[in-house]
Amino acid sequence: SDAVPFYGVHQAGIVTPAQDRLHFVAFDVTTTKREELADLLQEWTAAAARMTQGREAGAFGAVGGAPEAPPDDTGEALGLPASGLTLTIGFGPTLFDDRFGLAAKKPAGLAGLPRFPGEALLPEISGGDLCIQACAHDPQVAVHAIRNLARIGFGRVSVRYSQLGFGRTSSTSRAQATPRNLMGFKDGTANLKLEDTAMLRDHLWVADGDGADWLTGGSYLVTRKIRMHIETWDRTSLTEQEAIFGRNKGEGAALGHQKEFDEIDFTRKGPDGMALIADDAHVRLAHPSNNKGARLLRRGYNFVDGSDGLGRLDAGLFFMAYQRDPRTQFVPVQMALARQDSLNEYIKHVSSGLFAVPPGVRDAGDYWGRALL
Ligand code: HEM
Repeated sequence: SDAVPFYGVHQAGIVTPAQDRLHFVAFDVTTTKREELADLLQEWTAAAARMTQGREAGAFGAVGGAPEAPPDDTGEALGLPASGLTLTIGFGPTLFDDRFGLAAKKPAGLAGLPRFPGEALLPEISGGDLCIQACAHDPQVAVHAIRNLARIGFGRVSVRYSQLGFGRTSSTSRAQATPRNLMGFKDGTANLKLEDTAMLRDHLWVADGDGADWLTGGSYLVTRKIRMHIETWDRTSLTEQEAIFGRNKGEGAALGHQKEFDEIDFTRKGPDGMALIADDAHVRLAHPSNNKGARLLRRGYNFVDGSDGLGRLDAGLFFMAYQRDPRTQFVPVQMALARQDSLNEYIKHVSSGLFAVPPGVRDAGDYWGRALL
């Protein structure tokens, strides 16, 4: 079947080969009682374990319960397969404020992101006490899962914002072909992937001794909604587009190289003696060699939220990246990009999220965040 196992050492939905669709949601916790939060996480975990296996959210399902009560599943995924659904939870910095007595357990990596040059963040689509990433091959399945978790959370959490995404913009396994982002370029070529076991240990999973014990085996997620100025981009020459990324558009090879996966040699020069990959090219600035070896597992999605009322597509990249410590990974990479990337003329960061992603749920007796609560 196409069901992804729910139980494991790590949560599914991180190194799981990226599915085609996303529904991402951030919640504000409205209850102030820690027990109610723990109860909710247990109820959510049970529903998630069921839905990821293609089952209904609750035991009675959409039509099997008492007719005078609202059903314990909303029904729109009846008859649909699991569709590779993964549900991945994260805890935001604000969950560790005074409300639940969790301040002492706040992991250092959740300290917060600095302000980056050029960003224009909208608070109403940023942050969140909790997030859940639903990925699936079928959007109906991803939306059904988030809807049912929100329904179960009624009275204890409220939806702060949510984002639909399509067309994964990265590969997280060498078995996957590299997809393209809305600028038409292959995206996800140089990414941490499922098969890179040793690099995942060093760059993805929080290890014993990194800080908060409850987070061992987990990771950190940074989300950035990045609006693209699509119409301006579409009036830019191919040469300029390729110079901005430092890769060609057809094959996805670094400029001056033959193949997509050729290791990049940044010293190559053209006949004019100039570096083939410019100093302000995206791949040069984002490359580990420019960032003290920092790597990310990128797992973003394209979005088009219709148009903006001015005749422009409201489109871009919902960037998501997992890592062992955002302070030494996302932050320096994004600081380098925000300062110098020639791509900046065509994009704007409009939302931001930072979450500690707990380790996997071991079995039916365990639940999301048990070691924290
Ligand atoms: C590489 C697109 C934002 C980090 C790339 C590549 C493309 C691309 C086409 C080359 C193919 C590949 O290796 O995947 C974009 C677009 C963005 C964006 C369109 C915004 C709309 C970001 C952000 C970060 C980032 C915000 C992190 C702060 C990286 C990294 C690489 C990369 C680490 C690989 C560099 C290497 O090792 O060669 N991106 N990117 N990108 N990008 Fe981005």
